[in-house]
Amino acid sequence: MSTTVAEALDLIREIPGFPEPGILFRDLTPVFGDAAAFAAVIDALGEAVGDEVDLLAGVEARGFVLAAAVGYARGLGVALVRKPGKLPAVAGRVDYALEYGTATLELPVDSVRRGQRVAIVDDVLATGGTVAATAKLIEQAGATSTGVSVVLELGELGGRNLLGGLPVHALRTV
Ligand code: PRP
Repeated sequence: MSTTVAEALDLIREIPGFPEPGILFRDLTPVFGDAAAFAAVIDALGEAVGDEVDLLAGVEARGFVLAAAVGYARGLGVALVRKPGKLPAVAGRVDYALEYGTATLELPVDSVRRGQRVAIVDDVLATGGTVAATAKLIEQAGATSTGVSVVLELGELGGRNLLGGLPVHALRTV
């Protein structure tokens, strides 16, 4: 049985007080775990990344799952944007602020080639720090970010304002 994107997104669970008091955590686990919902979300993200794209960038960890599936569906490779300390050879490193805490992202050597058009894929756009850092890594590699496609945008956190006009494609904004 097929599932619409809206039905798939209705599976997202809200968990108050995680990982800190006052934070309403959006848990996409049920979407990943339901084959029809996952397929609906991957197809929608696959459309959202557009046609003018050479490569996807997926952000560890949940972004990997989505970017890998979209890459397979669209016939695109994936640059794996990693949390620090995992890579033997780092092309670039950017520190950034998260909704809760601070973080660093690293780009593996030779994962993004100069001149490539790269679409960023992630699960949630919150403060925008993660995507802004990813876009910076892509730019440092001499490539261009074409936009970001996410399942969920937390609009009240204003993440897209941090992205300097980078097109944002969110399957749902809350
Ligand atoms: C989460 C989420 C996004 C990011 C969004 O990653 O997956 O990548 O936060 O937040 P921002 O817009 O405020 O930067 P997180 O590192 O918490 O989790 P994960 O490793 O489980 O994907």
